[in-house]
Amino acid sequence: MKTLLYLCLVVYTATAVHLKDVEVKYPHYINLSDNDEVMQTVDLEEQPDIELLEDIFRNPDNNRYLLYTRDNPLVAQTLQINNTLGVYFSKFNAWKPTVVIVHGWLSDRNTEVNIALTDAFLRKSDVNVIVMEWRRLALSGYVTATSGVPAVGRRLGQFLEFLHRVTGAPFESMHLIGYSLGAHVVGNAGRELEGKVARVTGLDPAGPLWNLNKDRLSSSDGIYVEAIHTDGGVLGQGIGSAIADADFFPNGGTSQPGCLTSFCHHKRAWELFASSVTYDHFLGRECSNMLQVSLNTCRGKIFKMGNGDISKRGSGLYRLNTDRRYPF
Ligand SMILES: *[C@@H]1O[C@H](CO)[C@@H](O)[C@H](O)[C@H]1NC(C)=O
Ligand SMILES: *[C@@H]1O[C@H](CO)[C@@H](O)[C@H](O)[C@H]1NC(C)=O
Repeated sequence: MKTLLYLCLVVYTATAVHLKDVEVKYPHYINLSDNDEVMQTVDLEEQPDIELLEDIFRNPDNNRYLLYTRDNPLVAQTLQINNTLGVYFSKFNAWKPTVVIVHGWLSDRNTEVNIALTDAFLRKSDVNVIVMEWRRLALSGYVTATSGVPAVGRRLGQFLEFLHRVTGAPFESMHLIGYSLGAHVVGNAGRELEGKVARVTGLDPAGPLWNLNKDRLSSSDGIYVEAIHTDGGVLGQGIGSAIADADFFPNGGTSQPGCLTSFCHHKRAWELFASSVTYDHFLGRECSNMLQVSLNTCRGKIFKMGNGDISKRGSGLYRLNTDRRYPF
């Protein structure tokens, strides 16, 4: 019996490793949404909107940089790349850390994730919060939005380079946070800055069309890169595999307590993160491999998930179990 179990485990592991090497085959149609109100059936083989993509590549004004501080927690000041006076006359303070928040697909500045994270950060600490709105591309089809993500990310990187150049704000005081497709946006921003930003956090980085995509979020995009995976199942919206320095898999990383829909599993990533900014109470336990993550048999060291700590450093796979309701 023991031998049989052992054999099964070997076969399981061998299959898992083998799968990594083969082409990921996506279903033709998949249901996706980063926004509560619209669950959409997406044709993953649709043609991207080339005209829109060309405009996204050309025109930087498709992205908006909205500054919130403790002096203006509700009404944003808009910053623009190369508008130096605009930055000088704004409430941006280069001596304080800067948190950048990037939403996902079918979202804009008013999406829940922006509001929840801005609020959590400004209550906790005196920082600059910059919400990047990329609604023009984010409101297009999923295939188009995915194709334009690297360009949007590079623009964000160039904007932060500008901010650094004219204010002296160090990259070591910047924390870039993205949800779903936004996680790959901040990854590309970090890459544009040659991995010099202190921290990049991906909240359930999007999975469909990203698993083997060279432009996806990766561990070299910042000094420390963290990912929190909450909807990584076969039909999940998250990527579900380790791509960062430290990868956290709350409740195993594929389904969340109190959730019945993929949308709920997916959004739990930013809900947990917002809660961690406030309470910093999630203790991850290091795992040796993904099987331990799934079976909840991790026995390694403790490492905190999430929080706003700019000097956080670490690596590995981690699991933790959470409650079903805020603060989880
Ligand atoms: C997507 O959602 C629709 C409507 O809720 C459902 O009929 C369909 O089976 C779903 N498709 C997939 C691939 O899950
Ligand atoms: C901003 O200024 C830099 C340096 O002068 C320049 O290389 C870049 O093209 C400008 N960007 C935009 C969007 O105007």
